[in-house]
Amino acid sequence: MKKIAFGCDHVGFILKEEILTHLAAKGIEVIDKGTWSGERTDYPRYASAVAEAVVAGEVDGGILICGTGVGISITANKFPGIRAVVCSETYSAQLSRQHNNTNVLAFGSRVVGLELAKMIVDCWLSAEFEGGRHQTRVAAIADIEAQQRPQSS
Ligand code: RB5
Repeated sequence: MKKIAFGCDHVGFILKEEILTHLAAKGIEVIDKGTWSGERTDYPRYASAVAEAVVAGEVDGGILICGTGVGISITANKFPGIRAVVCSETYSAQLSRQHNNTNVLAFGSRVVGLELAKMIVDCWLSAEFEGGRHQTRVAAIADIEAQQRPQSS
């Protein structure tokens, strides 16, 4: 992935700034969707902004941080076409790309430290979807998503 959207709430703000520095050094282009300070705010806003950018194809993927990564990933997964993973170790980050073709990575600033967060980000960004039998399963997820969508009359 070469271009990503990034979002966090106030709890993830400091870690976001550190990861942005890391991504800049790697030459990854980032659209920063906020938040931009430690002032209390609500994670669904930033999850939505990142998910919309991913679904619109403005970026290759998105990264989200809140306290646990849970609320912000749940929100992102409400958007059709988003496959967000929350993880606190590198194995799931890598396999989520290879097998599940995740397009959003989330983690918690209260769960992982900076160095582990950088490793998780690097694994996720560099891993590629393997397709094949995994494509069939990802397509099945999309089918379920389409079935659950309210039909317009
Ligand atoms: C904010 O206190 C916290 O609830 C939020 O950062 C996140 O962890 C929610 O899932």
